[in-house]
Amino acid sequence: RAVSMNCITGAVMIQGQDDWGVTYTSTQICALKGSTVNISCSYTYPSTINHNVTKVEKKFWFTKGSNNAPVDLKTDSDYTGRVKYFFDNDDCTLRISDLKERDSDEYKFRFITNLPGGSFAGSPGVTLSVTDLQVQVTRSRTQGELRCHSSCNVPDNPSYVWFNNGQKMDGETSSLRVSVEDNDSYSCAVTGYEDYLIVNVLFPSDAPKVVTLSLTPTWDIRENSRVTLTCSSDANPAATYTWYKNGKPLYKNTQIVFRSIQSSDSGEYYCKAENKLGRRTSRSISIDVKYGPKLPSVSVSPSAEIVEGSSVTLTCSSDANPAATYTWLKSNGKLRPPIEEQQLVLTSIQSSHSGQYTCRATNSLGSNTSKPISIKVKCE
Ligand SMILES: *[C@@H]1O[C@H](CO)[C@@H](O)[C@H](O)[C@H]1NC(C)=O
Ligand SMILES: *[C@@H]1O[C@H](CO)[C@@H](O)[C@H](O)[C@H]1NC(C)=O
Ligand SMILES: *[C@@H]1O[C@H](CO)[C@@H](O)[C@H](O)[C@H]1NC(C)=O
Ligand SMILES: *[C@@H]1O[C@H](CO)[C@@H](O)[C@H](O)[C@H]1NC(C)=O
Repeated sequence: RAVSMNCITGAVMIQGQDDWGVTYTSTQICALKGSTVNISCSYTYPSTINHNVTKVEKKFWFTKGSNNAPVDLKTDSDYTGRVKYFFDNDDCTLRISDLKERDSDEYKFRFITNLPGGSFAGSPGVTLSVTDLQVQVTRSRTQGELRCHSSCNVPDNPSYVWFNNGQKMDGETSSLRVSVEDNDSYSCAVTGYEDYLIVNVLFPSDAPKVVTLSLTPTWDIRENSRVTLTCSSDANPAATYTWYKNGKPLYKNTQIVFRSIQSSDSGEYYCKAENKLGRRTSRSISIDVKYGPKLPSVSVSPSAEIVEGSSVTLTCSSDANPAATYTWLKSNGKLRPPIEEQQLVLTSIQSSHSGQYTCRATNSLGSNTSKPISIKVKCE
């Protein structure tokens, strides 16, 4: 299709009818990783130069090096054992097997004749794109449209062929209309690459197979923050979703949005995707809402009047997640050193213990201080 000519090195007089040239069968080739590709060409050259008969002495393909100082692919360690030349008459086909993504490159054929300066490289060469995924099928559930995309960067729009339950269909279009209820399998390929390029199998009508549950943010969920749980599946017709919290049905929707999450929203969540063909349950995810200590409460034991010499225990408690640690403070009089315990035990009580006590609860999210509690020691 494309004829490339240039780069006749040296001052060579060209005679005879034949011209210098390399013709590549196609200049853009897309191939799947791991597959084998044939890059075909043919070449011509003048049969005589200055009345001397030309004889081709060396032919090879290259990607590296300039046209004048190329590296023969056969000697290129990146291609060891993967390159074959098919050189019959004017045929100059290159075959590369076990394609790697790094093989994506421009490939040029060069031949050298017996005569000084009588060498030629076909440039520009053939652009090979090696891709992992050749063709993708996307479908629109509402319209029943299947669309084939090639991830190859071929400049012209490639044409596609479709297969219905493995049978090649007529026409070469990138999209295909099917009934939403259609339960056949479809696949597509780029025309010309049907044999070894991607075949994507699709079941347009399907029960949910994969149910995905996602949580944002994924960790460190704090009280009053916005939290979203989303359920999705590959079902067709589209699934309806039911959310469960701690095993009990909660809500029917694809999403649960907590605009301002509360500690009472903590629990195990999962969703169930369901359509007329079946149902499936997602994994479960646990939400643990973190919050700073609530106002601590203090209890006194014994609660009756305190008599000198007896013993009294003050217990502080505050709701917090993660759990709080406690510190006791005394606002008048001395409590030294500060007691870092949930319980403050005053043994053998005496009037110097009288005073206002408060306790402070602290966790990684903050702290909160209780209302003061007065201890009066009545001396008899
Ligand atoms: C590549 O070319 C060789 C030689 O002409 C042929 O035997 C082989 O079947 C071809 N392979 C592909 C994948 O076209
Ligand atoms: C080519 O031919 C010329 C005379 O026509 C001669 O002088 C020259 O040596 C020849 N070159 C080769 C490489 O045979
Ligand atoms: C759809 O096709 C699948 C696989 O071929 C089959 O198992 C299923 O029963 C079919 N469902 C309907 C509704 O035809
Ligand atoms: C202390 O607790 C009260 C009542 O639970 C709460 O309203 C307040 O926000 C808390 N303070 C802090 C700093 O967490």
